[in-house]
Amino acid sequence: MGKKLFIPGPVHVREDVLQAMATPMIGHRMPEYVELHKRVKEKLQKLLFTNRSVYLSTSSAFGIMEGAIRNLVQKKCANFVNGAFSSKWHDVTKRCGKEADDFKTEWGNPITPEMVDDVLKTGEYDAMTVIHNETSTGVMSPLEEIAKVMKKYPDVSFIVDTVSSMSAIKINVDKLSVDCCIAGVQKAFALPPGLAVFTASQKALDKAKNSVDRGYYFDFLEFDKNDAKDNTPSTPCISQIFAMDAQLNNMFAEGLEKRFARHKEMAEFTRNWIVSQGFELYPKKGYESITLTSGRNTRSTDLAKLKKELGKRGIAFDNGYGKIKNETFRIAHMGDLQMQDLKELFGMIEEILPAC
Ligand SMILES: Cc1ncc(COP(=O)(O)O)c(C=O)c1O
Repeated sequence: MGKKLFIPGPVHVREDVLQAMATPMIGHRMPEYVELHKRVKEKLQKLLFTNRSVYLSTSSAFGIMEGAIRNLVQKKCANFVNGAFSSKWHDVTKRCGKEADDFKTEWGNPITPEMVDDVLKTGEYDAMTVIHNETSTGVMSPLEEIAKVMKKYPDVSFIVDTVSSMSAIKINVDKLSVDCCIAGVQKAFALPPGLAVFTASQKALDKAKNSVDRGYYFDFLEFDKNDAKDNTPSTPCISQIFAMDAQLNNMFAEGLEKRFARHKEMAEFTRNWIVSQGFELYPKKGYESITLTSGRNTRSTDLAKLKKELGKRGIAFDNGYGKIKNETFRIAHMGDLQMQDLKELFGMIEEILPAC
C-alpha cells in the first residue's frame, strides 16, 4: 500500500482514474485517439473558459515552461521571482540562451501588479513570466490584478505558470488575455505525473513564427498544426490522456463552482487549524494559496520527526521546500482531497505533536 499523499504534488489519485489508465492501448494516429483528444480538449476549454485550443504535452510542466521561453522570448524576458520554482524558471530562461532579468521579492510575498508595471514600463522586455501559485512558499499572486496591468503591454508575452492552481480556482484564460497558460497534471488535477496542458493565444502563435530557435518537441506551431487534426506532434502519453478524460468527467460531475468552493473551504480550514496549533502562516496575509498551506515552524517542532511518525502511519507529509525546509511545512489540500481527509490528518498530527 502506498502512502496517502498530503504533499503538494504528486497528489492522491482516485481509484477510478487509475483504472482509466489501464484502458486497452490505441494508436495515436487511429480514429479512437482523435475522438479522445477532441473530447479532452473540449472539456479543458470548458475548464479554462477559453474558445481557443488547450494543447496536450507529454512532459512535465517544465517542458512547456521552457517551450514558452523558446517560442515567446525574442528580445528580453522579465522573470518575476518569489520562490523556488520562479527562480528556476529564470535559470531555465538563461539556459535557453535568452536575455533575461529576474525581479525578486522576499519568499512569502506575492508578485504584485505594481512590480509588474514598474518593470514593464521600461520597455526593455518582450515577455514576462509569473507563477500564479508558488508551490514552494504557498503564496498565490493576484493574477487578475496582474492581468489588468498586462493589458497596458500588449506587445509583452504574458506567460503564466498555473501548475498548482489550474482546476482548483477559476482561471478565465481569454478574459485575462494570458498568452500562455501552463499546468502539470500531478497537482490540482490529481492525475499521475507526465502530462502538461497549455494554451497559446493567437498573438503567441504569430510571434512564435518568428522565433528561430523553437526546436521541435516544444514548438508551439507543431502543437497547433497537429491539434487542428485533434492530434499531437509526437506520440502522447495515451494512458494519461484516458485518465484525464475520466478525471474531467469527475470534475464536471462535482461541478466547477463546487470544486472551486471546496478548495477554498479546505484552505480556510487548514489555515485556522495551523494557527490554532500555535504556528504562524508563512505567506503574507491575504496571499495564502488555496491549494496548499504553508506554515512557519514557530513552535520549533522537530518536523523531520513529525514527517517520520506520520510516514509510519501511512501519511506523506512535507517539511518545507528548498531554503525554507524545516523552517516551514506545507499541507496540500488539492485535487480530490476532502475536508474529512484533513480532519483525519490533523487528528493524527495532534496526537504526534507532543512527542516532536
Ligand atoms: C509552481 C510550479 N511550477 C513548476 C513546477 C515544476 O513542475 P514539473 O516538475 O512538473 O516540471 C512545479 C512543481 O512542483 C510547481 O509547483
